[in-house]
This record gives sequence, C-alpha cells and structure tokens, in this order.
Amino acid sequence: MWLLFLSVPLLPAVAMVSHRHRVTISALCGGVLSWVLGRGRGRGQGAACARSTHAFVFSECTHGKADSVLATFDLYAETHPSLSLGPQRGQVLDKVVRRVAPRLVLELGMHCGYGSIRMLRLLPPAGRLLTVEGDPLASELGEELLLVAGFKHHQFQVLTCSSVDAIASLRPHLGSEDGTCEGLDLVLMDHDPQRYLEDLVALDAEGLLRPSGCYILLVHRDQGPGASRALMEQITARNGRYALRTEENAVMELYYCVDG
Ligand SMILES: C[S@@+](CC[C@H](N)C(=O)[O-])C[C@H]1O[C@@H](n2cnc3c(N)ncnc32)[C@H](O)[C@@H]1O
Repeated sequence: MWLLFLSVPLLPAVAMVSHRHRVTISALCGGVLSWVLGRGRGRGQGAACARSTHAFVFSECTHGKADSVLATFDLYAETHPSLSLGPQRGQVLDKVVRRVAPRLVLELGMHCGYGSIRMLRLLPPAGRLLTVEGDPLASELGEELLLVAGFKHHQFQVLTCSSVDAIASLRPHLGSEDGTCEGLDLVLMDHDPQRYLEDLVALDAEGLLRPSGCYILLVHRDQGPGASRALMEQITARNGRYALRTEENAVMELYYCVDG
C-alpha cells in the first residue's frame, strides 16, 4: 500500500516517457509477440493481433489507396504490438523490389498483408505475388486488406497452408501459359525463422527458384546478434548456391544462382 502511495508522484513522468517512446515500446511488444508466436505458444494472441490490426486498418484507411493502407498499418503499430514488417524493414523490401522488378514473388508469412501490399504496389504490370499464411483467420483478413488496397486477384494468390505444404504444391502455380515453370525471382521469408533453412533447401530441391538468379530476403526480427551469421554458415554448409548480398535493418538479402 505504501509503495502505491510513494509511486503516485512518479505517474506524470512515467506517462511522459511512455508517450515519447511509444513507437519503441510497441516495437518491443511486437518483437515479444513474434518470439512467442514463432515458438508456437501463442496462436490465440496471433488471431487477436490479426483481428485488431484488420479492424483498425479497415476502418481508418482510404479504401483503394495502397499508400494510405500502409500508412494506417504504421499508425496502428505506433500504439499497439504488431507483427507487420514496419516502415524500416519495408524500405529495404521496396529497394529490392524496385531493383529486381520481379515477375514472380513468393512471400512466406502474410499475416495481415503489410509486406504483400508493399510489394504489390511496386511490381511490374505482369508481376504476380503468391503469398502463404498458415493461420486461416489471418489469411482471410489479410486477403481482404489486399483487396481494400485496390489489388485484384489476377495480381496475387493467397495460399492458406503451412510453408512446407505450400512449397510441395507450388509448381503448378508458377507455370506460364505454355506450361513451362518460370521459377521465382524473389522470395520473402517472414514466417518462422526456425523454418528458414529447411524451406530454402526445399525451394531449391523442388526447382522453384529461377536458375539464372533469384533473390531471397530473410527477416530477422528478434534473434540476437550473430544469429544471421550463424544462419548463413548453416545455409552455405548445406547448399553452396546461396551467397549473402546485403544485410540492413535485420533483413538479409541472399542471391541464388545455378547458371554461370
Ligand atoms: C511476422 S508475421 C508476417 C508479417 C507479414 N509478412 C507482414 O509484412 O506484415 C508471421 C506470420 O507467419 C505465419 N507463419 C508462421 N509460421 C508459418 C509457416 N510455417 N507456414 C505458414 N505461415 C506461417 C504466422 O501465422 C504469422 O501470421
């Protein structure tokens, strides 16, 4: 009781610090949330996060304007724990999409569609996104936000399943009209870091990556320092076809090439 009494004079200072650092605090909460979800202990929190993100973005954004939808996601993340990629990692993604101008993109881990919308707005006219989400509720709500942002079903396809099942059944989705498999130009992995290595190996084994060159972005949200170096060592030990290109804002860019 006396502790409560003593802490009352500190309340204005606590309120001021929390307001000033609200972005950092919500980013930290987001980190904790993705750590919990990554270990499969928080499916309920994941669904609640998807519901709350979707409700805010749907009601506050300008429908049909992708940039307004993204800005509303960012606004939400300033005051709530969020699993979305966010503006800093998003800028890294934008840079790569502009440079590569991919025709076929695969995203593993769509959640409410923030990363999907960032990529879709920069794809060339013939570009197409396949995005995978294992949680059926997040998948449904995310797909709705892609439509709210103004994108059409000929530009994207949402696959509601695990990354393992998606990779095993992806080949028919990559075909061109003459029946040849074109291969992916860009892959964004933002699902479960414990799956990154095995999913990379499976994408190569299934022949889904464009042999003449494919870029892979791995998002490292809350792994400690050295985690990406350790992952890169594991990747090169398993498969010499991947090389590290850049690493910025906890996003690793790998380049995969078989030819030449
Ligand atoms: C960090 S969120 C993705 C955020 C999203 N890329 C964005 O930009 O907003 C991770 C998502 O991956 C999904 N996920 C986790 N492991 C998965 C797996 N093995 N297969 C498919 N989805 C998975 C989770 O349900 C969650 O919605």
